[in-house]
Amino acid sequence: MAKIYQFPKDFLWGVSISSYQTEGNNFYSDWYAWEKLGKIKDGSTSGLACDFYHLYHQDIDLAKSLNLNAFRLSVEWSRIEPEEGKFNQKEIDHYKKVLNYLKEKNFKVFLTCWHFSLPYWLAKKGGFENKENIFYFIRFVKKIVFDFSHLVDFWLTLNEPLIYVACSYLLGLWPPEKKNLISALKVFFNLVKAHQQSYKIIHQILPQAKVGLANNLVYFRVAKNNFFDKKLTKIFHSFYNYIFYSLTKNTHDFIGLNYYTSHRVEFFKIKDLIKRMTSENPETRVIHKEVHPEGLYFLLKDLKKFNLPIYITENGIADSTDHRRRRFILRHLKYLSLAIKEKVPVKGYLYWSLIDNFEWREGFKPRFGLVAIDYETLKRKPRKSALMYSEICQKNALTQEIVEKYDPERIKEIFNL
Ligand code: FCB
Repeated sequence: MAKIYQFPKDFLWGVSISSYQTEGNNFYSDWYAWEKLGKIKDGSTSGLACDFYHLYHQDIDLAKSLNLNAFRLSVEWSRIEPEEGKFNQKEIDHYKKVLNYLKEKNFKVFLTCWHFSLPYWLAKKGGFENKENIFYFIRFVKKIVFDFSHLVDFWLTLNEPLIYVACSYLLGLWPPEKKNLISALKVFFNLVKAHQQSYKIIHQILPQAKVGLANNLVYFRVAKNNFFDKKLTKIFHSFYNYIFYSLTKNTHDFIGLNYYTSHRVEFFKIKDLIKRMTSENPETRVIHKEVHPEGLYFLLKDLKKFNLPIYITENGIADSTDHRRRRFILRHLKYLSLAIKEKVPVKGYLYWSLIDNFEWREGFKPRFGLVAIDYETLKRKPRKSALMYSEICQKNALTQEIVEKYDPERIKEIFNL
């Protein structure tokens, strides 16, 4: 009999993008100013990026044609409030149009309030390092919640706070390029407060709202099965994966999980691990040295204890040839399905990303899209993996037929034959 992994009824199948990485021309952002200093690895600047700002109809239509029913995007604070206290109605109307279009096409909408970039005026005031600035974030959140209330299904206050703290304040890789533990701690605790306060505010305005954040989780695995490695693995797991959750208890209506990598933990080589996690981590996220789909299963099993609905808000791979992407998706979905079978309440999966885009400091080189972008012409072209994903979404199942069609070599592995 043909094998199948069936997903639950009402399961959400979607994609994620972020404003800064796709819209283009975000003149008033701290990233825009920083890029001008020649900081991007491939020598580029985000420029027009994917011009999602003008081509959103096309991209949303594309997502629809791929049988998706969920879409995650973010709003660019620096567009909405380019100068302190001056909200730009034209930009608010623009986002209303985008969100309305998503609703017209029947998408469940995940909206991220803050995805790494800041208005330049706020960055000059110290960004999230300055406690006083939480006020501005909350004021911004209030504004967008009033304006977009009926157009959003899931609110994500923040994207990957720990990655931001690490890249911007510990490793000096992203603006404002600090390498300062005290600053990093300040930003971390201010992001905790920013999440808690925005959770409350959103609920005051919309009591029924579903509010969470998108957190980057890593699967830590023991390198050698000894006592020390096991203990240390547990410490890394509890600290990296749960520190933000444990400080923001009771302010999550769901769990948003971004999953990309795994790390091996070896007690006697702890320095190497720290090195990998610090200096190489952003790279690893991009080139995926440690793809480990089973790690998703173990993380999900562990997340069950929170007793909250779980959405995979990001999971993806940079692969310009598209050879590895199909395999990557198939293998992750297999383990996702196994977790669901074991009663982990996963309610949706959003692939990162719909389209190739501006991958922060790495520029345009990494290709995360299900859909390829020709940056000369801005033409979009679905890759083979997009067609495969679309078939899975349409069937709400990962079937033997699909694997045979798109990655026959993996049939045994996917179905344990
Ligand atoms: C995640 C970020 C996202 C993108 C992917 C590849 O950590 O949230 O913006 O850069 O990695």
